[in-house]
Amino acid sequence: MPILREVLQQTHRSLESLDIPDARLEAEVVVMNVLRMPRHEIFVQQEREITPQQEKDISGIVDRRRQREPLAYIFGYKEFYGINIAVTPDVLIPRPETEAMVEHALFMALMGMETPQLVIADVGTGAGAIAINLAIHLPAAHIYALDNSEAALKVAAYNVQSHNVADRITLCYGDLLEALNQLTDSAEPPVMLDLIVANLPYIPSQRIPTLQPEVQREPKAALDGGEDGMEVISRLFSQAGKHLKETGMILLELDPDQVPAARELADKYFPEAETSVEQDLSHLDRFFIVNRGPAEE
Ligand SMILES: C[S@@+](CC[C@H](N)C(=O)[O-])C[C@H]1O[C@@H](n2cnc3c(N)ncnc32)[C@H](O)[C@@H]1O
Repeated sequence: MPILREVLQQTHRSLESLDIPDARLEAEVVVMNVLRMPRHEIFVQQEREITPQQEKDISGIVDRRRQREPLAYIFGYKEFYGINIAVTPDVLIPRPETEAMVEHALFMALMGMETPQLVIADVGTGAGAIAINLAIHLPAAHIYALDNSEAALKVAAYNVQSHNVADRITLCYGDLLEALNQLTDSAEPPVMLDLIVANLPYIPSQRIPTLQPEVQREPKAALDGGEDGMEVISRLFSQAGKHLKETGMILLELDPDQVPAARELADKYFPEAETSVEQDLSHLDRFFIVNRGPAEE
């Protein structure tokens, strides 16, 4: 039977020959998952024998990578902000840069808001990664997790259940914030929010075919932001006034090039609000913040 060191080297070589970026790291992740061992054990147990079944499983994964299936879809989960989020091809795979969005949202919620009983909407929740982390770290908050993909909401429902936050996350189907309208009678006041967080599709349509093949396996509706990438975000601005409290804030993820367009939208819909921009881990302007105003004394 082959030993771990040989299988790791072979997996690395196979992935490298497929031009997979970070082939060495990916080979380690594949071996770790199949052998169900933490990363450091791979190096400690280099001489361990690999069973024929394990070898077959590893080569099955390499075959799927040959078709450019993303690793997260193959394993069925992605680690995000310290928890595992189940993913299927019905949802976008949560990105590391979006973890910084969770950080900003938590900071805004803990420092900028008057009450811990916050009401938050995660618009375009996908697998629910942002909403679930906010629910975990803000135990008094209630989060509305909204999406216009029923298939994505099913994945989000699974994740919400498995992280035990179903009592504080309401999943709603619909177009952006209009999803909230089904929760209230037309005679009742609308759901009012302290914070809107949204990582909506923001890639310009013409750029989609140029994205790497793995990204093209993700739902187009999760990526395609229309001609200038701002179509969905722009509609969110047009709906937000109805649901955002006078002291509320919006936190958006976008492309650095879209910051001026986001500023124009903020000026149009919230002329009295303060805006600011935060950077992601690569020091790119990635998060746009609208602050409607501090609470009155
Ligand atoms: C870029 S993905 C983000 C998923 C998740 N929030 C994350 O950060 O990993 C965008 C999500 O917005 C959803 N979406 C796109 N258009 C929408 C709309 N008009 N109303 C509600 N959700 C929408 C997509 O279905 C997708 O789940």
